[in-house]
Amino acid sequence: MNRSRSTLDLLPAIGGRYSPRAFSDRDVTDAELALVLEAARWAPSSMNEQPWRFLVTRRGAEGHAALLDGLNPSNRLWADKAPVLMLALVHRILHKLGAENHHARHDLGLAVGQLGVQATALGLGMHQLGGFSPDKVRAAFAIPDVYDLVTVLVLGWPGDADGLPEHLRERERTRSLRKPLSELVHYGRFTP
Ligand SMILES: Cc1cc2nc3c(=O)[nH]c(=O)nc-3n(C[C@H](O)[C@H](O)[C@H](O)COP(=O)(O)O)c2cc1C
Repeated sequence: MNRSRSTLDLLPAIGGRYSPRAFSDRDVTDAELALVLEAARWAPSSMNEQPWRFLVTRRGAEGHAALLDGLNPSNRLWADKAPVLMLALVHRILHKLGAENHHARHDLGLAVGQLGVQATALGLGMHQLGGFSPDKVRAAFAIPDVYDLVTVLVLGWPGDADGLPEHLRERERTRSLRKPLSELVHYGRFTP
């Protein structure tokens, strides 16, 4: 699972990360869950606001069915096998200034990035989802308007692609590609 897709010498937890859809039956322990959340906690944020929040649900326990129900059907199809679903939210107000925090989603992304790296280092898989209904989930959990519902994180131990619906099996065995650095990085001047 941890084969890097880069030709450069990346940290294994960065190069080996991918977004699984196949999950095994193995549960995520409280200690493993605490560790990945702790990795998110130590992310940097604008003015150290730490705007991220995580609503954690475990399969068969409080909140899980409601969060699962908020996913787009194409995501629900496989995400229901994973032992943990988490809603990732941000508080929109920068408390030190009493103003809109324009970096809140940026900061959440950093925290989730760290969570994903820590998860990969443990051998866990984490799949982020934008394909859910924020309105439905907000209503189900009575989440106030000052929070933005950004993604749902699917966490668990990667499983066998054969357990997936047929149209997803080949996709699970294929790793995504990336644009070359030359397309993404500009030195000295910007050329759109
Ligand atoms: C903000 C965000 C939203 C995403 N939403 C979905 C989604 O709704 N369904 C899905 O299957 N994958 C989703 N993904 C996963 C991406 O498709 C995936 O990260 C991308 O194709 C790169 O593949 P990799 O993560 O395996 O390297 C999302 C990823 C991010 C970061």
